[in-house]
Amino acid sequence: MTDSIILSIETHLFFARIMKEHALFLEAGFPCCEKDFIEEAERFRQQFERLLQDTLEIAGGCVREPVLKSGELVTEFTVFAEKRTMALSGVPIDVKTSEMEEQLRCNQERCEKSPMYRDIMQLNRRALGLLHELIRFKERILCKVREAQLFTVNYPLLIEHIIREAKMYRDIVEQLLSKRTISCRKFYETEEFWNRIMMEHAWFIRGLLDPSQAALIETADQFSKDYKRLLDEAYSQECRANAMTEASLTETLKYREFKTAAVSGILDCQISSIILPLLADHVLREANHYIRLLETGQTR
Ligand SMILES: [Fe+2]
Ligand SMILES: [Fe+2]
Repeated sequence: MTDSIILSIETHLFFARIMKEHALFLEAGFPCCEKDFIEEAERFRQQFERLLQDTLEIAGGCVREPVLKSGELVTEFTVFAEKRTMALSGVPIDVKTSEMEEQLRCNQERCEKSPMYRDIMQLNRRALGLLHELIRFKERILCKVREAQLFTVNYPLLIEHIIREAKMYRDIVEQLLSKRTISCRKFYETEEFWNRIMMEHAWFIRGLLDPSQAALIETADQFSKDYKRLLDEAYSQECRANAMTEASLTETLKYREFKTAAVSGILDCQISSIILPLLADHVLREANHYIRLLETGQTR
């Protein structure tokens, strides 16, 4: 029971924030004539923000040390990136939530005593309902963009990408609710999922940097090729050995350095791009999450 409480809390702390940011990227990416889409994205942003705040409120000490240390929940840049993004996009962000998250500490004892199982399962059901709706919304956007009925500055592949991330979150919540054994997802599936996500981040960064940033574009392109190679190797191998995980970890640790330099350079106005500061921090957190999974051999 304690395991599923902790896993639920950690899942929402990471993914609810990711979802609220996806909603923000969508909201900020529509032209001002698309009032309905902007409002709907804003509603999702608020609902996931509330889910994150409610999780934080009951989280207590129920977060494991490796998760807190990984930089997947907040990074040293998150609060600043939120403030800058709020000023640039006009979309409100509750920065206090991130400041509270910076203060989170692990307190196993409190967690074991806490009779919060019912509250957590309720939170899981609420997340699941929201995710069904958010996935439908993202799919509707993608469909309209493909049929030239809607414009957004977000690439169609970015919309596909954030649909896949929402579906990953939904899968995990469904497993938590069904009380199936936690480790039923095979590790190589997790690795394949995140290697593809990492490859696509490199494509997005490559495409959103100012065309004059030749060296950074080249580096981003190299990362996309490295992840493509990792994915191809995984497909061609009968047995996906530990060597694969080692290679993914080495690559992603290198990638984290690049993403850290990118978010820092964007915030310091040293890098010219059309990347929202919070998007730069968002992809860094996703890399941090993946590194934690690779280092601990966990699938979520
Ligand atoms: Fe994301
Ligand atoms: Fe992503």
